[in-house]
Amino acid sequence: MKILITGGCGFIGSHTCVELQNAGFDVVIADNLSNSKEEVIDRIEKITNKRPEFIKANLADEKECDEVFNTFSDINGVINFAAYKAVGESMDVPVKYYKNNLGILLNVLDNMQKHKIKYFVQSSSCTVYGEPDSLPIKETSPVKDATSPYGHTKQIAEQMLSFIVGKDIDAIALRYFNPIGAHKTALIGELPNGVPNNLLPFITQTAAGIRKELKVFGNDYPTSDGTCIRDYIHVVDLAKAHVVAMNRLINEKNKKPLEFFNIGTGHGYSVLEIINSFERSTGEKLNWSFAPRRAGDIIQIWADTQLAEEELGWKAQEDIDSMTSSAWNWQLQLKEE
Ligand code: WQD
Repeated sequence: MKILITGGCGFIGSHTCVELQNAGFDVVIADNLSNSKEEVIDRIEKITNKRPEFIKANLADEKECDEVFNTFSDINGVINFAAYKAVGESMDVPVKYYKNNLGILLNVLDNMQKHKIKYFVQSSSCTVYGEPDSLPIKETSPVKDATSPYGHTKQIAEQMLSFIVGKDIDAIALRYFNPIGAHKTALIGELPNGVPNNLLPFITQTAAGIRKELKVFGNDYPTSDGTCIRDYIHVVDLAKAHVVAMNRLINEKNKKPLEFFNIGTGHGYSVLEIINSFERSTGEKLNWSFAPRRAGDIIQIWADTQLAEEELGWKAQEDIDSMTSSAWNWQLQLKEE
């Protein structure tokens, strides 16, 4: 079976390629390299001894997307990661985000229909929930009004799928919580462009001396220690969930043409608990201080993982210290480059 991974040179896409190949799938990666490097293909081959096929393409361009599907005629399923994903940037350039993220989705689905490709896994996000009314959050919890164009593109993608699937495409949308960490070989990991928005890459770059100090955004939230709580999940656990989801579709075990699953650990950790985990698991002392709250941050969220456990038979295995230590090992490997 051959799977097309859009955005497969990216953080989650590259880890998913490794797990798909480990599970015996052949993989084609289509990526425009706007937020990743082609060298990732060499790294994946080093890890799995299998080189994924690769085509550089801007899938938001209809002709380039058609070209991908005309070039690789033996695709059985698609996993769609390709998207811009910086919440803050999306506030500044909303049209760019809607055009890119939704354009890619529609071009890919259009080609799947043309080429009779039936199985589709969509990269969605817990961002669709907004600020939860109750926790842990379930797939049936209300989806609130988006608070950023990025989060809005994730919501619209799910809504589009609900009208598109069922005839010739079946789909699973995986709602990721906060993916962190890196493969145990430290050959692939998160490669933020410029100053990291996300917590873990900022922590590892601070410990590596690239950043002066981590700013903890807010210490007056109504949580145990006053800092925001998130459900951090190891990127390898997240990657494995995509293999399980694609197999569910291929084996036609899905109960509806469109299914949603929370992919988290079910545990929430505060920013301070993440800092403690990083210092404990690496032995590094982190330079940090409190700063004002960041606009748009929700207070706390963590997943109810029951549906993924019962229906997918998937449960996150890695603990928080393996997430923070693997992120540090990846940062150390980067420094040697
Ligand atoms: C986590 C916590 C910050 C940086 C976003 C998107 C989500 C996904 C992951 C793409 C928050 C705090 C952070 C820093 C800090 N993106 N923080 N200092 O905002 O939960 O989720 O990124 O797929 O869709 O919404 O992740 O890592 O940015 O922040 O204190 O320098 O760390 O305030 O509480 P977030 P994050």
